[in-house]
Amino acid sequence: MEKSVAEKIFDSVHRSYDKFLNFATFSKINKWQETLINATPNGKYILDIGTGTGEIVKKINQKIDKNSYIYALDISFNMLKVAKSKIGGENILFLKSDALKLPFKEKSLDNVYFSLVFRHLPALEITNQLKYVLKKDGYVSILEIAKPRSKILYNLILLFTDKMFRPIGRLIFSKQEWDYFVESIKNSITKQELLEFFKSNGFTTHFYQSKLLGLIHIAVLKKQTEE
Ligand SMILES: C[S@@+](CC[C@H](N)C(=O)[O-])C[C@H]1O[C@@H](n2cnc3c(N)ncnc32)[C@H](O)[C@@H]1O
Repeated sequence: MEKSVAEKIFDSVHRSYDKFLNFATFSKINKWQETLINATPNGKYILDIGTGTGEIVKKINQKIDKNSYIYALDISFNMLKVAKSKIGGENILFLKSDALKLPFKEKSLDNVYFSLVFRHLPALEITNQLKYVLKKDGYVSILEIAKPRSKILYNLILLFTDKMFRPIGRLIFSKQEWDYFVESIKNSITKQELLEFFKSNGFTTHFYQSKLLGLIHIAVLKKQTEE
């Protein structure tokens, strides 16, 4: 079967990914992930979608009790390979799968995490999957690039990413990889849009914090409906 664009891109950037993420977040990514995990009431069955190089799974595993299970799911085999080399344990299962075809039963999960992956996915389609696999009172935890309310700031960020950082980015990534990253930034949404979207899908806001001048969302949403 032919690889999707995301699969091709993440399969090829797996070696430089951690270094790039630390550079691009001014080494704040670990703190943000800790905030997300600490704000989440974790249950027994935990899914991390787009697990990448496994940093969130590594941190969740240090916090949860040993009767819990973590499913680390990603479309990229190479990213999963890096994750697997960092973390092990009988309670962690690595799954190569598309987030839009989740291999879980109805109401089988307590938590679903997305760290820097929600904006890569079609929001309505993935949310319908979440509504299906999450138990009532389950939580969705999201760390994501936010669209700032100020249009000037937003345009500045696009300009920096697309023009100023491009030469540095191109030292590590190909044109297609860098364009994919810039395009994904255009899919980012504001705090209000994020919270309203989840509200209209039957979730309440359990926790919200923004970081880096409102450029990062850290959000925990609770499923309120039985469906
Ligand atoms: C920007 S990385 C984030 C990795 C990690 N969660 C982190 O915070 O560093 C996005 C990850 O999502 C995965 N991904 C993208 N689209 C996906 C899809 N449709 N299904 C499953 N994984 C996907 C990519 O392969 C990649 O590993």
